Amino acid sequence: MNSLIEDVSPIAVDVYRSRRERVLAQLRAQGGGLAVLSTAPEVMRNRDTDYPFRHDSYFYYLTGFSEPEATLVLNASARDGEPASILFCREKNVERETWEGFRYGPEAAAEAFGFDAAFAIGALDDHMPRLLADQPALFYALGTSAELDAKVRGWIDAVRAQSRSGVRAPTRAQHLLPIIDEMRMVKDAHEIAIMRRAASISAEAHRGAMHACRPGMREYELEAELLYTFRRHGAQAPAYGSIVATGANACVLHYPAGNATMRDGDLVLIDAACELDGYASDITRTFPASGRFTPAQRELYDIVLAAQSAAIDATRAGVSFDALHQAALEVLSQGLLDTGILDKAKFGGVENVIAERAYARFYMHRTGHWLGMDVHDAGEYREADGPRDEQGARPWRTLVAGNVLTIEPGLYVRAAEDVPERYWNTGIRIEDDALVTPGGCELLTREVPVAADEIEALMRESISH
Ligand code: GLY
Ligand code: MN
Ligand code: MN
Repeated sequence: MNSLIEDVSPIAVDVYRSRRERVLAQLRAQGGGLAVLSTAPEVMRNRDTDYPFRHDSYFYYLTGFSEPEATLVLNASARDGEPASILFCREKNVERETWEGFRYGPEAAAEAFGFDAAFAIGALDDHMPRLLADQPALFYALGTSAELDAKVRGWIDAVRAQSRSGVRAPTRAQHLLPIIDEMRMVKDAHEIAIMRRAASISAEAHRGAMHACRPGMREYELEAELLYTFRRHGAQAPAYGSIVATGANACVLHYPAGNATMRDGDLVLIDAACELDGYASDITRTFPASGRFTPAQRELYDIVLAAQSAAIDATRAGVSFDALHQAALEVLSQGLLDTGILDKAKFGGVENVIAERAYARFYMHRTGHWLGMDVHDAGEYREADGPRDEQGARPWRTLVAGNVLTIEPGLYVRAAEDVPERYWNTGIRIEDDALVTPGGCELLTREVPVAADEIEALMRESISH
């Protein structure tokens, strides 16, 4: 075999094939029809330079195919012997491959990835009127792209143009992605194995950053340490823009690693993790630039850590997705009262801090999100139906074994007259990735220390070397 071909293990091919079968079964259960799903477009960065290509997560979930310019068609009305799972992809092209590298071409792609048939992407518009003829429904990413909507219209027009020969166009268009969302929310063994490796690489990167950190270094130097570790272990990219924020910068939630110098006495917040083989990890650690927390930093750190522990304890199959957020809120709110950041005389107890959302000035995000192929992964957070609450929202979803989510409480205390000065400009977040199990959850990212004493011990060790 051509040595430029990436390895695609037979097991992985079966995984993608069986996901396609599951989608086909669901389409059949809904009366049959044709599903169309394209990968992401290539995007220009400037002049003739593209952003690095990243496949569409839904498309990759069903194909494992990571070349650009590819479309999957699933025909749930295919009769015996007709192809149900069809790939359209770039043709072999010796000249383009000389410049850009290997491409499978339809024939090898069908073979390697287990499609029933494959054709050149340029032939998609020719095939679609035939494939859509007499289909009851078209399933696609409804309302996600004007370009796709225009293509769909063109295909349907082409079928209608044949109506005098007795062919009918689909009468129903249906959103395809929610079917895949539900599947993506529960990770299979193949996904969990990759996510464990991604988590492990990211944890090593965080350990490396703690190890390398010295007052006087710039934020971008720590970013470089992280990226080096990701890539050195084969991760293709960071899963999201790396945050390396020192001192007051840590209070900016999406601060990208910048030029600021880490000073003795600063806390450094790193929220950075890799994407490996299409799967994200997501880790945040906050540690002292000098290797020693100040007493005020340690107080806030231990509150955030206790909030995270409470949220972890609340995470298991059968409980509401909101339970971990509420568990974290209670601990954080109590901590805000205990430290005098919120006035006990004014609020009384933690119930009022929560009822009045007084914590939100210092904790303005939720405690977790689904994690998977996308860092903020696919999947609804609320049930499709059920009684609505006072705000009109439907009930939170119930966790099931196989969900993967982050648990990431934080506190962000800016300089303000009504806040004790010792806490000013302190931003802390602690984030781990959790796999929900029947009896609890398993943290995938704990190969990097999280207890303040353990962080200090790791940094002491590195400073003495
Ligand atoms: N790194 C993005 C997040 O924590 O949600
Ligand atoms: Mn996160
Ligand atoms: Mn994060």
